[in-house]
Amino acid sequence: MAHRITLIPGDGIGPEVTDAVVRLLGRSGLDIEWEREVAGAAAAELHGEPLPRRVLDSIVRNRVALKGPVATPIGSGFPSVNVEVRRSLGLYANLRPVASLPGLTTRFDNVDLIVVRENTEDLYSGLEHEVVPGVVESLKIITAKASERIARFAFAHAQRRGRRKVTAVHKANIMKLGDGLFLDSVRKVARDHQDIEYTERIVDAACMQLVMDPGQFDILLLPNLYGDIVSDLCAGLVGGLGLVPSANLGDGLAVFEAVHGSAPDIAGRGMANPTALLQSALLMLRYLNEDETAARILTALEHVLADGRVRTPDLGGAATTREFTDAIARQMEIRVPL
Ligand code: NAI
Repeated sequence: MAHRITLIPGDGIGPEVTDAVVRLLGRSGLDIEWEREVAGAAAAELHGEPLPRRVLDSIVRNRVALKGPVATPIGSGFPSVNVEVRRSLGLYANLRPVASLPGLTTRFDNVDLIVVRENTEDLYSGLEHEVVPGVVESLKIITAKASERIARFAFAHAQRRGRRKVTAVHKANIMKLGDGLFLDSVRKVARDHQDIEYTERIVDAACMQLVMDPGQFDILLLPNLYGDIVSDLCAGLVGGLGLVPSANLGDGLAVFEAVHGSAPDIAGRGMANPTALLQSALLMLRYLNEDETAARILTALEHVLADGRVRTPDLGGAATTREFTDAIARQMEIRVPL
């Protein structure tokens, strides 16, 4: 079956890693028609706005998008394209599976976590104003509706994937109303899922426990800000930002992207690791019921990483993005099982 997918290469290393992924998916034998759209700094320069309406229209039309990282100016300038895409398309669930890959030297070798992050509210609602000079108010919005919706998603995902436990992460000891509402909403949903163990952790303690013993967690369920921070911490457990995928899911709409940013420090130098975006594309293929192809590409990726001879500099190697991608493509052709 043919798939038509919106492709947003993004900024910085975005075009480099999306080219790599498009090439590998092209070699997989799948019939994919990419609809390329420009967003981010490139679009701001080209069209005078970072997120032209046509980008959102394309995603709505195709229902599925693969997106490279988009740069967001710090402190001033245009608002985050990522936040706007998620909010305007109602992509309320951010799903980040974090699993150890073979052959990489990391503190733990058996990490298998899923981070579920609420994607539409909290301090990311973009509601900030200067009260008087020197005093700024940033509003943290938590609603029962969005909290329950993400909790239902997390428990349903646990059930679909046969996972054993959901842990809600919060700071309700300090933010008694906001995080308190989040927790109350999650508890309500947990009561409907007695077959799945439910626990709670305060966010600071959760960070410490994650770096000491990640095996005690399974699915982590967090409001937006903690989810953003904790999911990068989890990426660090398995080798860094260059490896970990994510999906932004709404009702019938999905945008898949790497968790990393545009990496301006290495952009244009052909040394970016395309694994994170490739793994995001594999999540996308599973979403599109192309499980067999996703498994075949994952086997090839795992082979190259386990073999260890061809690695990008973030993993201690000297290979270029191109050389690493070629090595995966060769493995896909050989199709040697691990
Ligand atoms: P970043 O993720 O771009 O980079 C952090 C560090 O990780 C850098 O040293 C970078 O070289 C390295 N890194 C990231 N991805 C890599 C890869 N695939 N291969 C090898 N090394 C990699 O984070 P930073 O510097 O905080 O943000 C840069 C820009 O990206 C900002 O404008 C930020 O707003 C944007 N950003 C966009 C995201 C998105 O579009 N989803 C997510 C995070 C940040």
